[in-house]
This record gives sequence, C-alpha cells and structure tokens, in this order.
Amino acid sequence: MASPLRFDGRVVLVTGAGGGLGRAYALAFAERGASVVVNDLGGDFRGVGKGSSAADKVVEEIRSKGGKAVANYDSVEAGEKVVKTALDAFGRIDVVVNNAGILRDGSFARISDEDWDIIHRVHLRGSFRVTRAAWDHMKKQKFGRIIMTSSASGIYGNFGQANYSAAKLGLLGLSNTIALEGKKSNIHCNTIAPTAGSRMTQTVMPEDLLETLKPDYVAPLVLWLCHESCEENGGLFEVGGGWIGKLRWERSLGAIVRQKNQPMTPEGVKANWKKICDFENATKPQRIQESVGSIIGVVSKIDSDGGVSTNHTSHAASTAPSGFAGAIGYKFPPFSSAYTELETIMYALGVGASVKEPKDMKFIYEGSSDFSCLPTFGVIVAQKPLVDGGLGEVPELPVSLEKVLHGEQYLELYKPLPRSGNLKCEAVIADVLDKGSGLVILMDVYSYFEKELICYNQFSLFLVGSGGIGGKRTSDKVKEAVAVPNRPPDAVLTDVTSLNQAALYRLSGDWNPLHIDPNFSSFAGFDKPILHGLCTFGFSARHVLQKFADNDASRFKAIKVRFSKPVYPGQTIKTEMWKEGNRIHFQTKIHETGDIIISNAYVDLVPASGISAKTSSAREELQSTLVFEEIGRRLRDIGHEVVKKVDAVFEWHITKDGNTAAKWTIDLKNGSGKVYQGPAVGSADTTFTLSDEDFMEVVLGKLDPQKAFFSGRLKARGNILLSQKLQMILKDYAKL
Ligand code: NAI
Repeated sequence: MASPLRFDGRVVLVTGAGGGLGRAYALAFAERGASVVVNDLGGDFRGVGKGSSAADKVVEEIRSKGGKAVANYDSVEAGEKVVKTALDAFGRIDVVVNNAGILRDGSFARISDEDWDIIHRVHLRGSFRVTRAAWDHMKKQKFGRIIMTSSASGIYGNFGQANYSAAKLGLLGLSNTIALEGKKSNIHCNTIAPTAGSRMTQTVMPEDLLETLKPDYVAPLVLWLCHESCEENGGLFEVGGGWIGKLRWERSLGAIVRQKNQPMTPEGVKANWKKICDFENATKPQRIQESVGSIIGVVSKIDSDGGVSTNHTSHAASTAPSGFAGAIGYKFPPFSSAYTELETIMYALGVGASVKEPKDMKFIYEGSSDFSCLPTFGVIVAQKPLVDGGLGEVPELPVSLEKVLHGEQYLELYKPLPRSGNLKCEAVIADVLDKGSGLVILMDVYSYFEKELICYNQFSLFLVGSGGIGGKRTSDKVKEAVAVPNRPPDAVLTDVTSLNQAALYRLSGDWNPLHIDPNFSSFAGFDKPILHGLCTFGFSARHVLQKFADNDASRFKAIKVRFSKPVYPGQTIKTEMWKEGNRIHFQTKIHETGDIIISNAYVDLVPASGISAKTSSAREELQSTLVFEEIGRRLRDIGHEVVKKVDAVFEWHITKDGNTAAKWTIDLKNGSGKVYQGPAVGSADTTFTLSDEDFMEVVLGKLDPQKAFFSGRLKARGNILLSQKLQMILKDYAKL
C-alpha cells in the first residue's frame, strides 16, 4: 500500500475554518500531523457579526484528538494578523487554504454597492491579503502550497450571484498568476470549485442531498494538492460527493477574417461565425504565450501572404498559429547510412560489450555463428541530421546548435538490423513544442533496408532558452516516456565505463568535441568531457537484452528513454530493471553518486514464443494482411476519389494475443493514396489498435467500429472523429 500522506512539521493555515468545508480541512490536516491555525471571524453566512466560538470549537476538537491547533479570529482582510498567528505559535507557514467566504445573493439589478464590495473584500481581497502575508516566508523556505476556493457559480454563472461569481472567478485569475510566479520557489497554487453541504448551501439544497455531499469528501483533494509530493500547480478542479475532475480551456481553431490592406468588417465576422465557434480540432492552450503566439502568428501570416485563410484546411490551421508552420513537416534531404561489420563491432564495444561476457561475443566477433548487430545501432544509422548540423537548415527554427540537448529517444525495430548494409533514411520534423523554457523538436527518422521499413527513431531535442514564443505544449506525435514501477527493481546490472569510453563511442559517428576535448567541455560548463547520452542508452539496452532476452537481438522491439543527467567516463553505469509482461521498465543511475541519468525508460520485447510473429510467414497468418493488401490494390483504381473524400492518414496496430503483430498505414491524404506496412511516414491523423479478429469482424460488417470503440475493443488515438469514415474505407473498398 502507498505510504500515507503526512504533514508532520508543516504549519497549515485554513481561513474560515470554524465550520463547513474549512473545519473539515483543519481536522484532516491535524489528523495527519500538521500544526493548524484555525481562522474564523465567526459572523453569520452574510458576513454580519463576529465571535470567537466557531474557531475555538474546532481548535478544541483537534486538541481533544491529540492534534496541534491555535485559533485566530481576525477577518481575512487583515491577512498579516492571520499569518502572524501561525508564525507566533509555530514559527513558520507552509500551507494556506483560502476558504473563508460569505454570500450576499440578489439578482443583478438589485445588488447594492455594499453587497458587491463586501463579497469582493472577503473572497478576493481576503485571499490576496492572507496569501501575500505568507508569500515571502514561503519563498525563503522554498516551499509553499496555496489553495484558492472558487465556485461553479463563477465558472458557469449562477442566477442571483453576480457579485459572488465575479469574485470567485477572480480567484482563479489570481491563482493562475501566483502559480507562475511561485513555481521557481516550489510554491504551488491550485484552485478548487467545491460542492458540499454547509450552512452556506443549506438554504438552496434539499436536506438528503446536503447529507450526501459531506465536506469530508472535498478535504482529501485539498490535502493532496497541499502535500509536498504533489507537483500539480495552476490547476482548477471541481470536487464534491467523492468525485474530482480537472478543468482546462479549449479554443476553437477560429478563422482569420482580415485581409492585407482591407478593412476588417462585422460582415466578415458574421460570415465566418460558424467556423469561429467550431470546436472540431480545437486546441487546449495552457499559457499566455500560446494566446499571444497565435495572434502574432496570424498577423505575420496576413502580412506575409496577404491572404485570408478562411478556407484553410484543419491541418494548416492547427500549425500556422503555433509559429513553426514552416518547420513542422520539414523533410530533410534523404540520406543513406552504409555500414560494415567493422562499424557494427565498434558500436558494440563503444556501448560496453566485452570479451569478459561470453554471451557478448556475438556482438563483437564477426566469426561467431550467431553474429548480430546490437538493436540500438538503429539510432546510429539515423542520427545524421543531428550530427552533421542538418538541424540548422530547418526553416523557422531558432536553432543555435550549442544549445541543443538530447532530451529523449525512441527507437522501434521492425526486423533485426542486418550485420552490414546500406540503409536509406528519411527524416522529418514531426512537431515542435514550446515548453516555455525551451523548444522541443520531434525529429522522426524512417530507415529502410532493401525498400522495407526496418526501423523508426524519434529524437526529442530540447533547444534551451528558445521557448515562450507561443507554440503548443503537447503533441499526439510524442512517443511518451513511462514512469518506472514503484517497487524495488527485479534486476540490476552494472558496468564500469572505461576512461576511454567516450573516445571509443564517438568513432560511431558523433564527433562532438564535448565528449573528448577538455577545453570544449569546460566551455560548456562541465568539469571534464562527458559521455554521450546515446552511449549510456546503448549500455542500458544491452543490460536489458542480457538480463531478459538472453542477448537475442531478434527479441528487441522498441526502446524509449529520457536523458536526465550526464555521466563522466570512468563512472559506473547501473541499470535498474522491472519486468511487467513484455515491457521491461528501467532507469539508469551513476553507481557512485546515485544520480539518475536515464529515467522513465522501457524496452519492449517480442515474447520468446512470439518471435516467429515477426517473420513473414506469421505475418501472412494474420487475416488482416489480406484485407490491407486488397485495399492497396483497389486504391490503384479509385485512390484519387477516396483521397478527395477522406483526406486523412490512418495507422493500424493489429494485435494478436495481446501483442502488436503488424502495423499498417492507409494513406488517404497524399497523391492517389497508398497502403503500406509499418507506421505512417510523416504522421497519422488517427491511429487504431485492434485485434486481427476484431478487424475482420469490422470489415465483414459484423462489428460496428463505434461500438467497438466504446467497448474498448478498438482503441483510437488522434482525430477520433475520423473513425466515422472507417465504415466507408473498410466496407466499400475492401470487399473480398
Ligand atoms: P461556511 O459558511 O460553512 O464557511 C465559511 C466560513 O468562513 C464561516 O465559518 C465563516 O464564519 C467564515 N468567514 C466568513 N467571512 C470571514 C472573514 N472575513 N474572515 C474569516 N472567516 C470568515 O461555508 P462553506 O460552504 O464551508 O464554504 C467554504 C468556502 O467554499 C467558501 O469560500 C465558499 O464560497 C466556497 N464554496 C462552497 C460551496 C459549497 O457547496 N459549500 C460551493 C462553492 C464554493
């Protein structure tokens, strides 16, 4: 069981804690070890009167259970005094729950100035003053957790609560900015919109409902958000009755309604109204830069091409406002990677394969009967655009190469790499994400051997300091890293790297002097030259292969890693591994320091019994193969017409016995369409995963794709709405 979330040593201030929700929070924090300041003015629910008994009662209740608490009877408007009680009694302040509140309901026209002002003073100004009084203390101690209490009335509006709604949504704005300003000092601020039975709601809710909506069903969310292990910051949550949901903004793609050198008119707005309000392909902006960035992107678009893009395709529209329209989809000149057994062996030695380990001989001695190329050599064949400066050619990217960090790596093999060969590679910028502190460039590389796709790489490159110019933060193109299980590892392997490790590894093609020249590395801020991230990656993958696949390269399917820290040659690399089915999660540490150098990583293996599934004979056993081939044949005649109707690329993951047995792409977007085995070159609009059997049922019309989706038999990623076009593709064009 997960260990309980404790607050020992923490000082928590809950405002308005003399009753209702605040009381439930105060009791819950105290029960888990916190020292609590119970603030309450003690007036009625309209804010009239005052008294000490409400706060005193709760303090007594906490103390009688052995907890620590003191009372404060000031109004939250006197924020300094409220916080001073915490400092005087307990010497610090760690958590502020802004909860105090009153109501002065009345229809809009009847709200008096006084009723407007007092609501704003208690809710908005009160939360501001208490939080400001705690702020510097939190900053100094580099820890703080703050809760703002909003309301569904503010988020959605509520008849008769104009004053209250305005103040409550004001608190969200306050929280949004505090979350940004506090982040670097480990001060997090989140907002809740609770629903609970209390004296505030007893006049508007039936009694039995009040009973079921206990304040105790809200408190656990508040405690989690205020715990030191909670990373959430700037979130907004609705909570009540045991349910919790998170809210975010959604923005339609909108329409550009202005043309260069032409007046912008209300008629133009009217003409585009449907499109402006159309939430299909909507984005979910999270930061102000995404807002400003879109506007700037639009202005420069209008100024540069002068055109109105009212008829733009959804794809163009979704990329244009991000400001990287010219970069996303950029195709590097195709290149080839030829290698012989010499390169294969040099790579294996570079990532630590050794004569010490008899089972490594197959990777370093070409005379071995089962001589094989290490699967992770698949990154070497694909890395050219990265190591020869090709990245600098990408239009619209502010690439300054010394600031490029290799953030993450994904590699998938569709067949074992040949021991020597000449691969043809195509690289494309799949997406560009703006993470604020930098840009993340996703570069996808497809490598072909004898015309067959043999491996796919996704390089995630981080451009330090180039962010904040208004791009989107996430992308469905990302191959996600996955956290390792929360238990001791199932296996650990270590390898001491040699002082020459980087000098040896660089011979595989990454000649960056950072890894060998002390002058260069000290210029880059390191004590001495560092090992290549991809070298550590090779070490770890080798460990997984050795421990869980008996060094059988044909069992390697895919790997994903996140690079988190550098290693110096000579240090010991320690790979901690967890087996979960055919996925081996791992993280890699420097043995001497305990630092994690690769995190959230995994290797997917082909099950020992399923190796034959990779061979062509097993592929042909899949019934779906025939259908894809038939669709491909039919497209030759009618592809042009279908492309016009569908305009989308679909990727299919066909499973057999729970494992992916084949990937297919039906491209109904480009030229006159095409069907091929393997993942989509470029990107897919929608990716479907379903079993071979279910695929056949869909094709034969026995299984409705939408029903299959809702029952979980068909999984869809990307633009799910396009699945509506499935019937058309499968039924009409694949008749067998
Ligand atoms: P409640 O009336 O039981 O608790 C509010 C407490 O705040 C009272 O004990 C009151 O004495 C205290 N208070 C009022 N003015 C104060 C001031 N100037 N300084 C210090 N303390 C003061 O109400 P409830 O339901 O527990 O509400 C807690 C918070 O949750 C409020 O901010 C409310 O607006 C919010 N909320 C509650 C909802 C619900 O369904 N109960 C729905 C949406 C928001």
